[in-house]
Amino acid sequence: MTTHTVGYLIGSLAKGSINRKLAKALVRLAPPELQMSEISFRDLPLYNYDYDADFPPEVRAFKKAIASVEGVLFVTPEYNRSIPGGLKNAIDWASRPYGKNSFTRKPSAVIGTSPGAIGTAVAQQSLRSVLSFCNSPQMNAPEAYIQFTPGLITDDGEVTVKSTEDFLRNYMAEFRLFIARVLQVLPKDA
Ligand code: FNR
Repeated sequence: MTTHTVGYLIGSLAKGSINRKLAKALVRLAPPELQMSEISFRDLPLYNYDYDADFPPEVRAFKKAIASVEGVLFVTPEYNRSIPGGLKNAIDWASRPYGKNSFTRKPSAVIGTSPGAIGTAVAQQSLRSVLSFCNSPQMNAPEAYIQFTPGLITDDGEVTVKSTEDFLRNYMAEFRLFIARVLQVLPKDA
């Protein structure tokens, strides 16, 4: 079966991030046809368009990493009912300079976890709006709002609740199918 490359961005920079745990679980549960790699935005400076004429090397490497993958997965917390500033900064970099938006035609999916009952739903809506503007075809369903309870996912990404594990495995299987469908009509680098 055809394999696809997926880069994932974790919205949190915190050491003990529950979204990093979720990302680890998703890597474990992804079908073997998905090659998963993290794309870090930790070292990016704050964007402003004065950089557009000459992007710093770390930003060029970041954009290259996005260009090299066939799909992008966002695993994000909700901060103040939106996405963390660091993630928005990274997306702003990737979307520029004008005409060189890294997300255009790039299939994406959004998922996140928080201790609260709505499990990052509001942040995800906000992110979806940004990705729409960036012309990224997004997987609409299944949606995934994961309420994090203590011990739900171990530091190594093992999911301790069977129904959640099944749900996340199916989510990644659906993402593989979505990427394949999008690439059929919008081949990468076409
Ligand atoms: C939060 N948290 C939070 N949770 C939520 O469900 N909705 C929200 O709007 C917010 N807002 C918010 C703002 C800021 C600045 C912080 C630091 C936290 C709580 C948040 O879900 C919790 O800290 C998670 O652990 C964050 O995910 P990571 O960073 O551990 O992956």
